[in-house]
Amino acid sequence: MNRVLSAVAWPYANGPRHIGHVAGFGVPSDVFSRYSRMAGDEVLMVSGSDEHGTPILIAADEAGMTPQELADKNHRLIVEDLVSLGISYDLYTRTTTRNHESVVQELFLGVYENGYFLEETTYGAISPSTGRTLPDRYIEGICPNCGYDGARGDQCDSCGKQLDPQDLEEPRSRINGETPEFVETQHFFLDLPALAEALREWLDEREASGLWRPNVIRFSKNILDEIRPRAMTRDIDWGITIPLEGWRDERTKKLYVWFDAVVGYLSASIEWARRLGEPDRWREWWNDPEALSYYFMGKDNITFHAQIWPAELLAYAGKGSRGGQPRDLGELNLPTEVVSSEFLTMEGRKFSSSKKVVIYVRDLLSRYQPDAFRYFVAAAGPESQDADFTWAEFVRRTNDELVAGWGNLVNRTANLIAKNFGEIPAAGALQPEDAAVLAATEAAFDTVGALIGQHRQKAAIAEAMKAVGEVNRYVSELEPWKLKREDQRERLGTVLNVMAQCVSDLNLVLSPFLPFSANAVDVAMGGSGEIAPMPTVEEVADLDDAARSYPIITGEYSDFPEWKRRPVEVGRPVAKPSPVFVKLDPAVVEEELDRLG
Ligand code: MF3
Ligand code: ZN
Repeated sequence: MNRVLSAVAWPYANGPRHIGHVAGFGVPSDVFSRYSRMAGDEVLMVSGSDEHGTPILIAADEAGMTPQELADKNHRLIVEDLVSLGISYDLYTRTTTRNHESVVQELFLGVYENGYFLEETTYGAISPSTGRTLPDRYIEGICPNCGYDGARGDQCDSCGKQLDPQDLEEPRSRINGETPEFVETQHFFLDLPALAEALREWLDEREASGLWRPNVIRFSKNILDEIRPRAMTRDIDWGITIPLEGWRDERTKKLYVWFDAVVGYLSASIEWARRLGEPDRWREWWNDPEALSYYFMGKDNITFHAQIWPAELLAYAGKGSRGGQPRDLGELNLPTEVVSSEFLTMEGRKFSSSKKVVIYVRDLLSRYQPDAFRYFVAAAGPESQDADFTWAEFVRRTNDELVAGWGNLVNRTANLIAKNFGEIPAAGALQPEDAAVLAATEAAFDTVGALIGQHRQKAAIAEAMKAVGEVNRYVSELEPWKLKREDQRERLGTVLNVMAQCVSDLNLVLSPFLPFSANAVDVAMGGSGEIAPMPTVEEVADLDDAARSYPIITGEYSDFPEWKRRPVEVGRPVAKPSPVFVKLDPAVVEEELDRLG
């Protein structure tokens, strides 16, 4: 048994989720977590809404709301989106809880006391027309590194280099195009160079594990070569207060949203333990060096998970060149693996909510089954290459693979059993072809499980579907519907028993990918439909402020079946099934394209 922290990127509370958001890390983290639980690991899966920072502030201004009101509204929407996809968080919370605030401040103080902050005076941008500070990512200009015109003040999306707004040539405001004015301001810089050696040691060790995707490890090592101090505070009035005398009352200086958000993995683990009434339980995932941690995100987040967050952890522990000691939280584990996906595009274009190139999760799920979408993501998502979502491909995969492959196997198995026996029949002597197909589905536990464990979900689901194909071939070759004579009845029972066992095996193997239909398939085969537990939404009080309440996602997941064959129960009643998957009319492709305009 391993302790496994499944750390899922925190969505910005800037609106409902679109399918690009959840394809990169939502579905993959859930597949992994569900599989790990079944394989016997103690999984703690945490995330939440990322509610501070400039985009939310600006959106709130535009909407005529306070940032907290906007975050409240969007947090609710995101919670609904994620639950409707069946993402099985142990806790999905948010960054505006008191608990998160105090854990972030504790991290800050530990880093500060160990001497890993440099206080520096720099230039901050303000908008000449409004007098307000202009955040880094709202400044655009030419990248000094690669010349790309359209680099943002925090990062160039073309070459990946981290930037400060003053580095940009021809800087301009993305809000109104004006040239920003740079004024003096004081900030706390994380002394990344003092942590570089420790970071490199960690990355070398992680590289040696051979687990990380090559592009992720390469990118992480590259950014280490140009490491320099980075400001962890901002001129903004929406964020977490700097917990130091003289700074606490600065209304317009807050912790940088990225210093705050990544701490969420830890604060959410602590909140989870506190809600359980076992306030130290989180330590099993964080202080025990044997515990494993997997971080799921899109590739634009790699810097923060493979450099900033580990640097915060190392600085808190006192493991950089300045030494130091951890405070109460103790020595905290660095990521075992940063599992980063590539990007999803849509009909060949980049998602953009503002340009309406977007498909919201809630819209898609109002018309299609969640597992059809989950299947698409697993089979054709941006796992280690950019991928494109097209309606034509969505319909094709759903109809040709899910419906005609897996759905058909389930359907004909349940139908034949219902019609001929009304219950799962006993098996007589097995023929070699029976033994072969049974061996194939049993072997799928090992092959598919190993691939999910290596975050190769595309290959994993391909293996599972290959086994589905083998069983379908077995059925087509044996043609059990032709075994009608009385002297063939025992043989018919054997074949149907074998089919039922294969369906049961494959249903377990597919359940991390297709949890909703796993329960439906189980019901079709006479079970109680409790194969894949589902997350729930609960309205809870803030642990440290009874006047506030908010929705969380949580769940009781201890009833997972194990990741291995469960022998089917002979005599279990099976009725005529209704189809598990909905076959799509090819006309939906045109309809959906019309909707997109
Ligand atoms: N909100 C960020 C994004 O959507 C991700 C934050 S991940 C966290 O890109 F760990 F920092 F929270
Ligand atoms: Zn560049």
